[in-house]
Amino acid sequence: MNAIVVVDQMWAIGREGKLLFNLPADMERFKSLTIGGTIIMGRRSLNSFVERKPLPERRNIVVTRNADLVPPDVEVVPDTEAAVDAVAHDDPDKVWVIGGGSVYAALLSRCRRVYLTRVETVAEGEPDTYFPDLDHLPGWEVESTSEPMTENGLTFRFVQYINRNLDAKS
Ligand SMILES: NC(=O)c1ccc[n+]([C@@H]2O[C@H](COP(=O)([O-])OP(=O)(O)OC[C@H]3O[C@@H](n4cnc5c(N)ncnc54)[C@H](OP(=O)(O)O)[C@@H]3O)[C@@H](O)[C@H]2O)c1
Repeated sequence: MNAIVVVDQMWAIGREGKLLFNLPADMERFKSLTIGGTIIMGRRSLNSFVERKPLPERRNIVVTRNADLVPPDVEVVPDTEAAVDAVAHDDPDKVWVIGGGSVYAALLSRCRRVYLTRVETVAEGEPDTYFPDLDHLPGWEVESTSEPMTENGLTFRFVQYINRNLDAKS
C-alpha cells in the first residue's frame, strides 16, 4: 500500500479537523491516483469530507471504534490491522492510506511509498496534526521530486518517498 499526503515545511497536515491548504491541482492529482482503488482513512478524516460522504469510484474503508458514527455507505473496520486484513486481496499499488494523523502513523511502516505534496510554507495558525518526518526516519528515501508549482499563492512540489525497510521483506 501507499500513503498520500500534503504537508507544510514542518510536516503539519491539519488543524481542527480540516486540511491546511486549498490546492486544486493537488486535489486533481489525488483523484487521478486514487480513483479505481481503495482508500483507508480514520473516522475524523471521513468527517472532513463534504456531507461525510465517501469518495466516489473508490472502495472507502473507515477505521473507527464506533461503527454507529459513520454513514452506512462506507466499509467500517475496528482498527488499522483490520484495515490491512481487509485489503489483503487488493492490488497493493492501488491501496491508499489517506489519513489522518493517527492512521498515517499506524500504517506508515506498511507503506511502500508516500506520495507527498510539500508546500513551501509554514502553515498559519496552530496546526494540531502532523505526518512523521520522513527525512529523519531510517529507511525512507526520496525517489523523485517534481519541479515547483504555484497555486493560490502557494508553491509546492510532489515528492515521492520509498520505504527501503520493506525491501528485505518483499
Ligand atoms: N494533509 C493531508 O493530506 C491530510 C489528509 C487526511 C487528513 N488530514 C487532516 O488530519 C486531521 C485528522 O487526523 P486525526 O489523526 O485527528 O484523525 P483521523 O486519523 O482521520 O481519524 C481518527 C479516528 O480514526 C479512528 N481510529 C484511528 N486509529 C484507530 C485504531 N487503531 N483503532 C480504532 N480506531 C482508530 C478513531 O475513530 P473513532 O473516534 O470513531 O473511534 C479515531 O478517532 C484533520 O485535520 C484532517 O484534515 C490531512
